Amino acid sequence: MKNYIKMYLQLVCIGLLLVSCNQTDEKKLAINTVNTNLNTTIESKVDSLLAIMTLEEKIGQMNQYNGFWDVTGPVPENGDAAKKYDDLRKGLVGSMLNVRGVKDVRAVQKIAVEETRLGIPLIIGFDVIHGYKTISPIPLAESASWDLEAIKKSAEVAAEEAAAAGINWTFAPMVDISRDARWGRVMEGSGEDTYLSSKIAVARVKGFQGEDLSAHNTIAACAKHFAGYGFAESGRDYNTVDVGTSTLYNTIFPPFQAANEAGVRTFMNSFNELNGVPATGNKYLQREILKHQWGFSGFVVSDWGSIAEMIAHGHAKDGTHATELAVNAGSDMDMESNLYVNELVTLVKEGKVDEQLITDAARRILRVKFELGLFDDPYKYCNEEREQSVTGSKEIQDAVLDMAKKSIVLLKNENNVLPLKKEGQKIAVIGALANDKTSPLGSWRIGADDGTAVSVLEGLKVYSGNQITYAKGADLVYGQTVFARELDINVSDKSGFAEAKQVAKQADVVIMVLGEHGFQSGEGRSRADIDLPGVQQELLEEVYKVNKNIVLVLNNGRPLSINWADEHIPAIVEAWHLGTQSGNAIAQVLYGDYNPSGKLPMTFPRSVGQLPLYYNSKSTGRPNMPSPGEVFWSHYTDVSNTPLYPFGYGLSYTTFNYTNLKVNVVSNNTVEVSVKLTNTGKLNGKEVVQLYMQDLFASVTRPVKELKGFELVELNPNESKTINFTLSKNELGFYSNEGKFLLEPGDFKVYVGGSSNTTLEAKFTLE
Ligand code: BGC
Repeated sequence: MKNYIKMYLQLVCIGLLLVSCNQTDEKKLAINTVNTNLNTTIESKVDSLLAIMTLEEKIGQMNQYNGFWDVTGPVPENGDAAKKYDDLRKGLVGSMLNVRGVKDVRAVQKIAVEETRLGIPLIIGFDVIHGYKTISPIPLAESASWDLEAIKKSAEVAAEEAAAAGINWTFAPMVDISRDARWGRVMEGSGEDTYLSSKIAVARVKGFQGEDLSAHNTIAACAKHFAGYGFAESGRDYNTVDVGTSTLYNTIFPPFQAANEAGVRTFMNSFNELNGVPATGNKYLQREILKHQWGFSGFVVSDWGSIAEMIAHGHAKDGTHATELAVNAGSDMDMESNLYVNELVTLVKEGKVDEQLITDAARRILRVKFELGLFDDPYKYCNEEREQSVTGSKEIQDAVLDMAKKSIVLLKNENNVLPLKKEGQKIAVIGALANDKTSPLGSWRIGADDGTAVSVLEGLKVYSGNQITYAKGADLVYGQTVFARELDINVSDKSGFAEAKQVAKQADVVIMVLGEHGFQSGEGRSRADIDLPGVQQELLEEVYKVNKNIVLVLNNGRPLSINWADEHIPAIVEAWHLGTQSGNAIAQVLYGDYNPSGKLPMTFPRSVGQLPLYYNSKSTGRPNMPSPGEVFWSHYTDVSNTPLYPFGYGLSYTTFNYTNLKVNVVSNNTVEVSVKLTNTGKLNGKEVVQLYMQDLFASVTRPVKELKGFELVELNPNESKTINFTLSKNELGFYSNEGKFLLEPGDFKVYVGGSSNTTLEAKFTLE
């Protein structure tokens, strides 16, 4: 602690000796912070500290090392642990990721604080994507709840558990929009819609960061991956991205903008190139848009090794060149390329990188460390007693169970097969996933232990007195390890089919839990087919031959095309990867203890060939078949244009009716919309009332429908409620191809209902 105190005294002595800056140069370099909400005390402390730092120490702040090997990417060739520890002792490391647990975090923090010249504490990053040790549903599933309070709470408890384990920075939320279910990382985002994703981005940022970032139970959030990563061509991870400016401004940027406005303290850039320039070396994205136009005052971390990857992209000649490009473009911290620490001093001395950029990057990083309170107490996240009492606490378990129930989407329920009776039933449970205690944890669960989720089988037994028999039927994958790079999905063994059919034959109801293993979606897990992997489809059809009364429970990290099931199986429940409390949440929904209220945040296609498929598409010049049999219109000859299940779709055990849609144009930038919602069924239930808008003609064409408002409403049977929405400038306008926000006069339509395919509509005109 002594160096730390020494440093602090130096700061006090130096007081307000500010580093003078030339404003014109700052503007040119896009490093001037226009954010007026900055804390002046922190700013002067940062300035004082910068004034006593050497160039090497500032660059050290920009260097992030991984704490242990082989987590999310290839180990860098020069990734020698001894050198890293040496750098840590010399004050050449600003952050570490993947160090976790109070004991380990304290150990590395102690080196930074007690052994380096200035004793600057490390910021400790970790992928707390959907929970730390207690796992909540995958983000795509949480988004299906459309419940912003529950989503915020889920981030809040994740932050609490992670902070208790020494972590103070999460690489979440991922706010990448994606319209392609082949991309494995759709599980990590909020789906295909910009409006919904923006709201969720805010909820997650506020959940992680709380009201007070310096509290011991809040952590810094990170909006990632800036930008365009979700538009990887053909859904193949890390692939090229080529999008037009209209998509960039209207679809990709808004959730990032919303996260920034909510005060997110860090951004992560992305692996992809955008219009020929890798995002990591993209000055337009990081300096012009993010730091200059949006006034972002936190720092940008590269993605894992993405600075060095600019060489493979064909943008940088070598590591030195990649470093120059990345720093000049505004990447403040180097995650695991190990380039800044080795190359930057020379680049500055050679005049290829302006030292002001280094000072700016270090300033941004130090600012966040001060905001976290790390300078007041570098060990504030390192309390063993708190770690023990918080990890897996009842509050956290309750929150993830609540989130899990709310994330479930009822896709089909013919003849009210569901909810199931709790007594006197013979139930056959079939499928490898039904008895799996690891898969429900999903793919981003580095901090969780294998086998810690409640399985569907366990949940079903807890919530009923029914007679339950289990048969696996078939394996889904062979070989599962926590960091499995590849899963063998070529399962062909059908020897378990006979037993599955046997138990199904004797049952009143068959529950089949099928889908994807938790590691079949996520980073690097793109799929070219999005049907049920392995022999599961065959198993389903075989069991159906002996008992048609099947409830299909899907576990998956992306939309699947399940046409046969939709046609034949009476009840289908989308249960994603729901985390630690998965089995309990599924059982509560199947038995009707919880009435499902989730709505799809992504379109489910009929065929992989329809991808990318999303509800808010453009019209095209030939949207409809002009006359029967006509061929020259925008369509496929072998599959319909329509999805299997549209965005916003989801059923309940009760029913809802929409009437009295009214529109009132108050002014050219205020339109009021109201609708009456009635619960017409027999049970209390929740409905997500969705408002869509269409701008019928505009200087840049607008989508056929765009979500512009939603409200989660709970009603008793026969109860009605009038729901009011206000469309203001933000909802009515759009961005031009030059990035200018426009509000154009003209004709509009609004649609209100319980799904994006609602037909209840009204018109209005803006003069
Ligand atoms: C991912 C990031 C993640 C990082 C650190 C990368 O491979 O793209 O989203 O935060 O690894 O684990």
